[in-house]
Amino acid sequence: MDYCDIMLDPIEFIQNASSITKKAMNRLKLKTNPFSEKPIRGNTKFFVGRTTELMEIADILGAAQYGSVANAAIVGTKGIGKSSLLNVIYYAAKRQNHWTVELEASQITPRQFLIQLMYGIIKDNLFTMEGTLSTEYVEHSQKIIEIYRRLDAHPDKTPVHYPRERIERDLDYLLNIVKGDNRLCIILIDEADQFAKKKCLELLQFFHSFLYEDGILTFFAGSPTLMENLTKVSPAMRDRLPKIINMPPLSKEESYDLILRRLKDAQISKAKNYEPFTEGAVDVIVEECDGIPRKIIMTCSEAISIGLKKGLTEIDENIVKMAMKKLGISIGHQILNHLTPAQSKIVRALASFNGRSTVTELAKSLNYSPGTIGTHLSDIYEMGYIYKERSGNNVYYILSKELSDVLIEEDFNRDKNNK
Ligand SMILES: Nc1ncnc2c1ncn2[C@@H]1O[C@H](COP(=O)(O)OP(=O)(O)OP(=O)(O)O)[C@@H](O)[C@H]1O
Ligand SMILES: [Mg+2]
Repeated sequence: MDYCDIMLDPIEFIQNASSITKKAMNRLKLKTNPFSEKPIRGNTKFFVGRTTELMEIADILGAAQYGSVANAAIVGTKGIGKSSLLNVIYYAAKRQNHWTVELEASQITPRQFLIQLMYGIIKDNLFTMEGTLSTEYVEHSQKIIEIYRRLDAHPDKTPVHYPRERIERDLDYLLNIVKGDNRLCIILIDEADQFAKKKCLELLQFFHSFLYEDGILTFFAGSPTLMENLTKVSPAMRDRLPKIINMPPLSKEESYDLILRRLKDAQISKAKNYEPFTEGAVDVIVEECDGIPRKIIMTCSEAISIGLKKGLTEIDENIVKMAMKKLGISIGHQILNHLTPAQSKIVRALASFNGRSTVTELAKSLNYSPGTIGTHLSDIYEMGYIYKERSGNNVYYILSKELSDVLIEEDFNRDKNNK
């Protein structure tokens, strides 16, 4: 229906259209669509599993309080829950009265790092919710306010009259005088792969000494190849990040739990179990999404959207499969965007072998050495975008469904266009 056809006021049109959605929601026995792609924040009631990782983090925090600081890298594939885990650390650390700052490496330039860090420390830890300096720090108030003013006036570029040495001195003052010895300064850096670049070398070198200072504990979150990427630019990073917390996929049980918890939060009171999803539908989601929380959430969310549009009362396997088909393509594209040019070339070559091939065949077709191909393949394998299968003396690499959906169809389209 077009709103011009019915000559409705556009605001009324939106109102009407959204009330239809409400009816459709009701039919699905839901108050809202609970499957949001945002990382988990303060609201941790949706957080499932991760006991091993949480235990490791608790150990690291515990040891750091008693002087034995071991910085950690949290690594895992896209959508596995790295940002969510960092957020949990953020709130846990805050509750233990530590200073905590969360920075997203993709949003700060190396030059701005110290500025953002110091700004975050002051704003998120030294100020109250109302934006006034916490009484705990009154004895240092004059200097803190002075630093804050300098930073606040220039949030996104280095203030002119604030040279690097001065910045470092002020940071040192905050960390060593204001903070006190009884708490840690915990720095959480998300999307840390962004720092694994040549132009960030200076920043990484700064980390070498900074990460060894007393009372500072840093968590880097990034892709499974984060450590490799960082050490490629600056080999010394390996020693500075001695702990690696690897995030595997969720177990089947945890995957069911993730779906159930979100549904329970959104169901109307008379809904039962996994409604509006049928049991078969949930089984398919858990089976196909490989324990990747984002995949599970996107699939559920898309299936609910389809259910709403079709005015259904339940979501069965077929609707889930429709949702997956629609998403499969976009997840595949996301993966492609995430790959390096060399990796992307290799998965495309794999697609040209119909999605199944050996190192030797790929090396020959791309004119690379088998060693190079092997290294790339094992990186791609680690990220979970291809599978391995042994057959006799050969090891076959097989494209994941998401990639073959995109790449093999792409080939097909290209053939069509050439004709
Ligand atoms: N342990 C968990 N329990 C419940 N939901 C989770 C869990 N981990 C992640 N999620 C959900 O999965 C989605 C992806 O999580 P998140 O954004 O934290 O992943 P990520 O690894 O940071 O992804 P990216 O690689 O894109 O940065 C979010 O919707 C988040 O709420
Ligand atoms: Mg993230």
